[in-house]
Amino acid sequence: MQALGNKKVLLGITGGIAAYKSAELVRLLTKAGAEVRVVMTASAQKFVQPLTYQALSGHRVYLDLFDAEAESAMDHIELARWCDLLLVAPASADFLGKMNAGYADNLLLTLCLASKQSVAVAPAMNQQMFANPATQENIKQLAAKNVLLWGPAEGEQACGDVGPGRMLEAQQLCDKALQHLSPGRLAGVKLLLTAGPTREAIDPVRYISNRSSGKMGYAIATAAFEQGASVTLVSGPVALTAPGGVNLIAVESAQQMHDAVLQRAADSDVFVACAAVSDYRVDQAAAQKIKKSSDKLSLRLVLNTDILAAVSALEQRPFCVGFAAETQDVEGYALDKLKQKNLDMIAANQVGAGNSGFETDFNQLEVFWRDGRHAIAHASKTEVAKQLIDLIAERYTCARS
Ligand code: C5P
Repeated sequence: MQALGNKKVLLGITGGIAAYKSAELVRLLTKAGAEVRVVMTASAQKFVQPLTYQALSGHRVYLDLFDAEAESAMDHIELARWCDLLLVAPASADFLGKMNAGYADNLLLTLCLASKQSVAVAPAMNQQMFANPATQENIKQLAAKNVLLWGPAEGEQACGDVGPGRMLEAQQLCDKALQHLSPGRLAGVKLLLTAGPTREAIDPVRYISNRSSGKMGYAIATAAFEQGASVTLVSGPVALTAPGGVNLIAVESAQQMHDAVLQRAADSDVFVACAAVSDYRVDQAAAQKIKKSSDKLSLRLVLNTDILAAVSALEQRPFCVGFAAETQDVEGYALDKLKQKNLDMIAANQVGAGNSGFETDFNQLEVFWRDGRHAIAHASKTEVAKQLIDLIAERYTCARS
């Protein structure tokens, strides 16, 4: 099922230049499976034509409190009851003021008053208007009335000013709607994850690395986010874009990955070590590019710290999940690793054979824990990641109870 399947979102659009971003928001919400109905204020219609949202949502746009035809199809009280979430994006300073005061002199304000469901606002205005004590007071009071405040972001504004007041991007708003409407099996869980290869410098231009594409780790990050986890992804260099809503920490070397993980591990609930960390690094990377000088060149390598073992040895440790990529005796090595590194779970796969593992879009896993095992059949990494996250959610819940 799609992440927002069966969910109904009423999107209110007020007068602001950010109204163009809401067109993309309708598209993203619809793509996630939500049914979207749009309500526009009169000033919003000065920025974008209702037809745009009509085409994207597949439904007529509601404009007027006294539109007899619209009211006969679904009156405004019904519309307020119909939705699971009423999101006003962009929400202008004027609208927030009226909403806070309980005005109902247009359709959208009436819906806000009449709705028993969650109401969220995404403020969008000039930074001075946002900083004004009147706006700040309105926002504070709306929050006290359980209105969800999504944004604003900081940055350059249409008027040329820079500061807080920009509407969040459509993807960020869609992610917030998703987290709000589908809390998922990992809601409230902080999940830390490593992915991709590491690069160990030989000199300023050369390095030792491996064939990991990061695809499995990135798919796990997406699946965990979809199940409501707050995800931090510590990633080595890969050619992938971080999944929306995931906090990405980009690193290069095993040492950097170790430091980034250890800084956050004690504050995480679940740690998934999916990275193909380089076992060794060059003892002393050269400060300058090494020149061709003789027939043979030796590099002295030293062992890198095992990040996963270091996390699992912490006094305050998260639920630890490791990976074992083996070319033979997958089960034997995986069970050894489970014990040696004191893990809660290990996901093993055979590499170097067939269409799974490194550099491909497919995988299959044999997952072990102290008193159980489960096979995840050959499928796309996206599908395998979903099943693995389900299993992690199940085992994590068991471990905590
Ligand atoms: O011992 P081995 O390298 O086979 O173990 C693989 C598991 O340990 C993976 O989960 C990998 O991410 C993790 N690992 C680590 N730090 C290392 C080496 C491996 O976190 N230096």
